[in-house]
Amino acid sequence: MVKINENFFALKESYLFSTTARKIREYQAAHPDKPVIKMGIGDVTKPLTAPVVAALEKASREQGDARTFHGYGDEQGCGFLQQAIVAYYRETAGVELKQNEIFISDGAKSDVANFTDLFSDDNVILIPDPVYPVYMDSNVMRGRKITLIDGNEGNGFLPMPYEGLEGDIVYLCSPNNPTGAVYSREQLKTWVDFANANGMIILFDSAYEAFVGDKELPRSIYEVEGAKKCAVEFCSLSKTAGFTGTRCGYTVVPEDIVIGGRSLNKMWLRRQTTKYNGTAYIVQRGAEAVFTPEGMATCRANIEYYKENARIMADALTELGIWFTGGVNSPYIWLKCGMDSWEFFDMLLNEIQVAGTPGSGFGKCGEGYFRLTAFNTHENTAEAMARLKKLLKK
Ligand code: MLT
Repeated sequence: MVKINENFFALKESYLFSTTARKIREYQAAHPDKPVIKMGIGDVTKPLTAPVVAALEKASREQGDARTFHGYGDEQGCGFLQQAIVAYYRETAGVELKQNEIFISDGAKSDVANFTDLFSDDNVILIPDPVYPVYMDSNVMRGRKITLIDGNEGNGFLPMPYEGLEGDIVYLCSPNNPTGAVYSREQLKTWVDFANANGMIILFDSAYEAFVGDKELPRSIYEVEGAKKCAVEFCSLSKTAGFTGTRCGYTVVPEDIVIGGRSLNKMWLRRQTTKYNGTAYIVQRGAEAVFTPEGMATCRANIEYYKENARIMADALTELGIWFTGGVNSPYIWLKCGMDSWEFFDMLLNEIQVAGTPGSGFGKCGEGYFRLTAFNTHENTAEAMARLKKLLKK
């Protein structure tokens, strides 16, 4: 008789953002006259920018013409987009990559989860707490041993390796989801040295790199010496260019990562050519437009718009005397709510119709904290903060 993967029953019953979405939906259905301001899941509100739309339209027309039609493409992505990303790394991070080290995906979430295919199930996985739930859940599904490394106010929610810490794979995300905290170059260097000294791999999620404005802070782990020997980097155009519904990301697997004589780059290519048929040609043309000067300028303008929302939120929290991190080089603000974080979620939803994400949904160290996103409009963000101030000053 068929045996199912029992590891699924070690997962929480529902994925965090499915639970919050259901609660918001139910509230809205019961109170249609009280529209909820959504600052929960990190979904953008600004549409794709004009250069991207023009590229998508052009590519769609190509697909409707026998002379320019494209069928199956290379599973690892189109050369034009890989080259655009190589140039982007050079310009924004001063990092040199090879075209074959870039794999185009449908977003960071799937690749971060799928990359676990490459590792044996008896690896020990180090996961910061709080954390983007995908790192945790995708390893729980494989029944792997997980060691949590605590983030807290003391370490600015940026956990570091410590004496006696043992593991084989570590997930890092900077700028961090959910806390918005950003590792410095020195901190990343400590992680890279630790990984190289202990034969570990770092799975580095840089999905929010475009929000880093401070030149002193790294946008890629490859800005740190030694990282190409131990780190795989996952990035996405979801927040950079508003691709949450269009779907495109990329994963960097350096040729220099060799484990027991095996190339991780070759393994990922083998995995992708078998299990993935490539990101849609039309979408890759849209993504290519993001990296043109016009594309970059328009996407940057949207990012600055969201960062202004983060400033509006930061000002309100400062006025209220509430401790928070993030919001400067990140679209996320992580605030201390000082009560059960699901109760805080329900209170904000029911009393002021503002939806955020409860910190405990990201792990035990998130209890007592709450995440707000900067992806709404200026008007809604200002309104949400006015309501929050009124509620909390009561
Ligand atoms: C989040 O809200 O944490 C993200 O939007 C989720 C994601 O990118 O999958």
